[in-house]
Amino acid sequence: MRRPIIAGNWKLNNNAKQALELVTLLKRELSDVSKVDIVVCPVFTVLMEVSDCLIESNIDVGAQDLYWEDSGAFTGEVSAPLIKDTGAKYVIIGHSERRQFFGETNETVNKKIKAALKHGLIPIVCIGEILAEREAGETFNVIKAQCQGSFAGLSSEQMLKLVIAYEPVWAIGTGKTATPEQAQEVHKYIRELLANMFDGETSQELRIQYGGSVKPDNIKDLMAQEDIDGALVGGASLKSDSFVKLVKYYEQ
Ligand code: 13P
Repeated sequence: MRRPIIAGNWKLNNNAKQALELVTLLKRELSDVSKVDIVVCPVFTVLMEVSDCLIESNIDVGAQDLYWEDSGAFTGEVSAPLIKDTGAKYVIIGHSERRQFFGETNETVNKKIKAALKHGLIPIVCIGEILAEREAGETFNVIKAQCQGSFAGLSSEQMLKLVIAYEPVWAIGTGKTATPEQAQEVHKYIRELLANMFDGETSQELRIQYGGSVKPDNIKDLMAQEDIDGALVGGASLKSDSFVKLVKYYEQ
């Protein structure tokens, strides 16, 4: 059985005060949750404070990106060892906003995954098509290229240490969620692809989250799909009441 995982990607939101207020509430409201892994991903500047606040809680912390070199003359970058040093356990890699606005490619995603794994961070690797690709019937080809590029050179053992997030770009921040059937179709395809690239066992054990306008009123139908193992949540992770409702879906 794959254990579900709900992660909140806060993106460029929440200063220290707001972040601590939010996680203090989450910590209290979610303390009895046991059936789902919970992660919050704040901005770099508050990673350590948030991690400290969540020590000995059932909520883990993740960064939103990393650079693949450990240290050196790379002004402005943050490396895996530094993220690890804050107490964070996860790192989002290859989010579509990074691909769109900051030149992230499948090759850089691949380097970042290897750096994260080398230092014991769990990568949450984002893949997904843009609207024009979906409308052109290219969704599966895009997903295939992203998986082949991003996971090149990784072993089955390494694959089992990461999480994939399928986020159709047209569903991010738009309120336009993929239908449960649309999401399931791609999740199933990703599993088939992984079975070919690695092996059947790896593809069955690996967790694949869905992301894109996940809200308390649509989580049930999405998570009921066979190949969907949780959610990567943007907007609805910024308020404690909606994030708590999303996590508690799994506790019913
Ligand atoms: P929204 O939930 O705001 O659509 O964002 C999804 C996302 O990009 C999570 O990484």
